[in-house]
Amino acid sequence: MTIRDSRDVIRDSKEQGAAAPSSSNHQSPIPNPEAATAVAAYLQQHETKGLLRFITCGSVDDGKSTLIGRLLHDTKLLLDDQVSALEADSRRFGTQNGEIDFALLVDGLAAEREQGITIDVAYRFFGTERRKFIVADCPGHEQYTRNMATGASTADVAVVLVDARKGLLTQTRRHSYIVKLLGINRVVLAVNKMDLVDFDQTAFDAICGQYRALAAHLGIAHVDCLPLSALLGDNMIARSGRTPWYTGPTLLELLETVPIDRHDTEAAFRLPVQWVCRPNQDFRGFAGTVVSGAVAPGDAILVQPSGRRSQISRIVTADGDLPSAGPGQAVTLTLADEIDASRGDVIAAAASPLEVADQFAAHVLWMGDERLLPGRPYLLKIGTRTIGASVTEIKHKVDVNTQEQLAAKHLELNEVGLCNLHLDQPIPFEAYADSRALGGFILIDRQSFATVAAGTLEFALRRAGNIHWQHLDVDKGERAAIKHQPPRCLWFTGLSGAGKSTIANLVEKKLLALGKHTYLLDGDNVRHGLNKDLGFTDEDRVENIRRVAEVARLMTDAGLIVLVSFISPFRAERAMARALFDPGEFLEVYVDTSLAEAERRDVKGLYAKARRGELANFTGIDSPYEVPESPELHLHTGDADAATLADHVLATLGYQAL
Ligand code: ADX
Repeated sequence: MTIRDSRDVIRDSKEQGAAAPSSSNHQSPIPNPEAATAVAAYLQQHETKGLLRFITCGSVDDGKSTLIGRLLHDTKLLLDDQVSALEADSRRFGTQNGEIDFALLVDGLAAEREQGITIDVAYRFFGTERRKFIVADCPGHEQYTRNMATGASTADVAVVLVDARKGLLTQTRRHSYIVKLLGINRVVLAVNKMDLVDFDQTAFDAICGQYRALAAHLGIAHVDCLPLSALLGDNMIARSGRTPWYTGPTLLELLETVPIDRHDTEAAFRLPVQWVCRPNQDFRGFAGTVVSGAVAPGDAILVQPSGRRSQISRIVTADGDLPSAGPGQAVTLTLADEIDASRGDVIAAAASPLEVADQFAAHVLWMGDERLLPGRPYLLKIGTRTIGASVTEIKHKVDVNTQEQLAAKHLELNEVGLCNLHLDQPIPFEAYADSRALGGFILIDRQSFATVAAGTLEFALRRAGNIHWQHLDVDKGERAAIKHQPPRCLWFTGLSGAGKSTIANLVEKKLLALGKHTYLLDGDNVRHGLNKDLGFTDEDRVENIRRVAEVARLMTDAGLIVLVSFISPFRAERAMARALFDPGEFLEVYVDTSLAEAERRDVKGLYAKARRGELANFTGIDSPYEVPESPELHLHTGDADAATLADHVLATLGYQAL
């Protein structure tokens, strides 16, 4: 898989076989290569100490950078030269009258990050005698919700900052919702800038009360509230004399002692296969990182989704064989039997197999600039597997400020919805609440390869499991053979009035004259019946094409030469249609007429109507037409008459018109 989005290159080190140990099953559904390598190195250094991963979130001015900078500084984890540089920078650029400006420490790195291509979440590592920490520092602007989700997907605890003067803001509610959605059950509410409200207990209590109510509503189980001044250091590392009414722990004490709820060691054994290692005929191993449970030679396992059973024969690593392996360990397993497994399969304890399904209820946090449209095909990456997927229905979207459920036909940037998700193939999975590694996924745009969503599988939809494919004795080949023709789908695309239907109509007549069996599906006609419930919004056009593509596929299965004449303005849906057919069966015919020419002809008077504002979403006017990139046939209507162009189509099919 090549991921081309510079902002988010999804190719973690594990995919390349350089297994990154992780101390839990908290693997990000949103991999980040540089971070993975850095995390691996850091973890190796501190192998014996407990590890807490946390995320800081808050609005832009809540003092997040100052808080992280102070934590790093006061725990003496900064190198001396960094401190000197910080002192110098503080004098030059600081906002604290020459005192150390901790925000520079983090923001300085943030500026570097702006230029970097892969990291949009900065991971910082520090440690004390008691624990080591990885903090994901995510930018606070609303447009960076995607980064926040990236950080949250691996964190145990979220430190949510609020400004004591402002209390809870929209961002606080949004971030808390996402924190909970991505499986964090423990929040530290850092009520910052207490110095600006004179360390007033009443102000603090009011904010805590409001936040506890929000957390209860969201189902966040544990909340600790702290009065802080990150800038001045109150209650950060040492207890502040200015909050005598506060008797709880300091921020650092809290971070050092909060329980880390991990069940990955008690859970059943699971290892998603990253790659199959076959250096020679005699050795075949399955490499990957154990995401939960333990494994030892002799253990009974099964490979999912195939369900084939075997036993572990060896656990191989670069440093020799192991007697057992547990969560976070990167190993290569060999099996007692010659059974097949490939990348994306999961090797699981035979006694506790995963569920396997291809339809799910899932929460989707949309991060794409273009909307999520139900029916549009995306790529889904879960664990080590990438497959085709589409949202079949948006059950509701969630107003993240009020948690209200709202009806929705699409999702916009930063919106969250509960969706029905359909995958091209069944996969082994666990609910996200049980396993981030096997229940967390991302969606990738098929054209740009950008990450457009992060999501969590909630449960499998059973209805799919109750419908089985019925075997039929007569197949496409036989149906086509008695018609003496190879089945084909000729897909005519182009602007309204480009001449698609005119040419398609001539092609059908000419094929009929040759004794061929055909059917012409025309947009206007199909919209009178099968698709009469659909209009011209983007969502409806996606569904329009999905249905007609399925019908065309059935007709080719019947052995026909099918002609489809639909504007079909979006590349994604034309690609979806193409994917339904066997190689060589689908021919995209681009009927290329300029907008100016189509509008000049305006056979149906629709362009004039659209220009007058009486027809909304008209293709070419206020709805886009995405020109085909590599159609099998490109017809320029200005160059020849319709009959000549129809003959070109026939010639492409290998027929000569009579
Ligand atoms: S598609 O975009 O969903 O593929 P389709 O081919 O089914 O469109 O239907 C297009 C036909 O519907 C046009 O030829 C035109 O006659 C009619 N039409 C009515 N409203 C619109 C509109 N807003 N945009 C495009 N075509 C429209």
